[in-house]
Amino acid sequence: MTPKPPTDTSHGAGNLTIGGITIDPPLVLGPMAGHTSLAFRLLCRRAGAGLCVGEMISAKALEFDNAKTHCLMRTCPQERPVAVQLFGGSPDVLYNAVSAAEAAGADIIDLNMGCCVPKVRSGGAGIELMADPERGIACARAMVEAAHVPVTVKLRTGLDPGDETYLWMGPHLEQAGVSALCLHARNAADRMRGQADWSHIGRLVDAVGIPVIGNGDVVAPEDAVRMLEQTGCAGVMVGRGAIGRPWVFMQMAAAMRGEPVAQFRDPAAIMGLALCHAQMLALHLGERTAVHQMRGEMAHYSRGLPGAARLRQALQVVGSLAQLSRAIEDYVGSL
Ligand SMILES: Cc1cc2nc3c(=O)[nH]c(=O)nc-3n(C[C@H](O)[C@H](O)[C@H](O)COP(=O)(O)O)c2cc1C
Repeated sequence: MTPKPPTDTSHGAGNLTIGGITIDPPLVLGPMAGHTSLAFRLLCRRAGAGLCVGEMISAKALEFDNAKTHCLMRTCPQERPVAVQLFGGSPDVLYNAVSAAEAAGADIIDLNMGCCVPKVRSGGAGIELMADPERGIACARAMVEAAHVPVTVKLRTGLDPGDETYLWMGPHLEQAGVSALCLHARNAADRMRGQADWSHIGRLVDAVGIPVIGNGDVVAPEDAVRMLEQTGCAGVMVGRGAIGRPWVFMQMAAAMRGEPVAQFRDPAAIMGLALCHAQMLALHLGERTAVHQMRGEMAHYSRGLPGAARLRQALQVVGSLAQLSRAIEDYVGSL
C-alpha cells in the first residue's frame, strides 16, 4: 500500500496545508454544481484562488462508467492543485470511485456531507451522511483507504438549529485519516437562508488537529480577513461571492496581506473575462452547453454594470458562441 502523506500540524489561521499540499493563498473556490466547471476554475486559479473544488460528482454514476460524469470530472494540469468532490451513500461505492477521481487528476478528493438536494438525499448521500454519522465516518474511512491523495470532508453544522453533529464527527473523521475539514456554518434546515454562524467554525478549529476551512457568506475581501481572525481557521472557502467575479480572490489575497484592494469595475475588462469563460467552456463542454450555461453566468458578470438590462435582453436570444461574442461587443461598443 502506498504510504499516506504525513498529517500536518502547522495550520494556524491562514496557514493551509492539506496532507502535504500547501494551498497558497489559503483561499478556496467552493464546489458549486452548474458553476465550478473546468473553465471557471481556471479563471479563479489565474485570479488568485489557491485551490478550486470541482462540482460534485456522483460516485454511483462512476460505477456505471457514465461518460457525462467523466467529462464533468475532467481536470487539467494548469489548475493544479485541484480537488474533485464526490457524493455517495455507501462506503463500497465511494471506495471504488476514488481511483476514477485520481485518474481524472485529483490532487485532493473531497466528500460531500452537506448537500440538501432531494435527489442527493434520496440516495443516502450529502447531508444524509450527517443524519447517520457512523455511516458518514465509514464512507470517509473507505475513501482514505482507497486514496493515494489526501481526502477532505465538507460538512454543515447538522440537520437542524441546535444540532452540533459536526463537533462529534470532526474528531472521528480526523481519526479516520481525513486530512482537512470544511465547515459550511449553517444547518440543513436553513439551506442557504439566514446568516452563517462563524462561531461554529472556531469551535471546530478547537476540536480537531487537522486544518479547518471556514465557509459561509464570505463575499467581500474584508470578510475573508474577518473569518480568519474570528475563527482561527486555516483557510477560507468562497462560493457565491465568486460567481461572475473570479477576481475577488485577488482582492481577498491583497486584503489578507494588508495591502490596498484594487477595484475591478471596467465593463470592457469584465466582458473580456466573461467571453474567455465562454470560449473555454465551449472547448470543454461543447458550444451548445456553453452558450446555455453562459446565459446564466452573464447575469452575474453584468451585475451593477451600466446598461446591464440591455445586455441581458440581447443575450436571451443568442444561440451560438459567435452571437454571444457579438452581443458582448455591441454592448461594450455602446458604452
Ligand atoms: C449553485 C450552488 C451549487 C452548489 N453546489 C454544491 C456542491 O456541488 N457541493 C457542495 O459541497 N456544496 C455546494 N454548494 C454549497 C457551496 O459550496 C457553499 O457551501 C455555500 O454556497 C456557502 O458558501 P457561500 O456563502 O460562500 O456561497 C452549492 C452552492 C450553490 C449556491
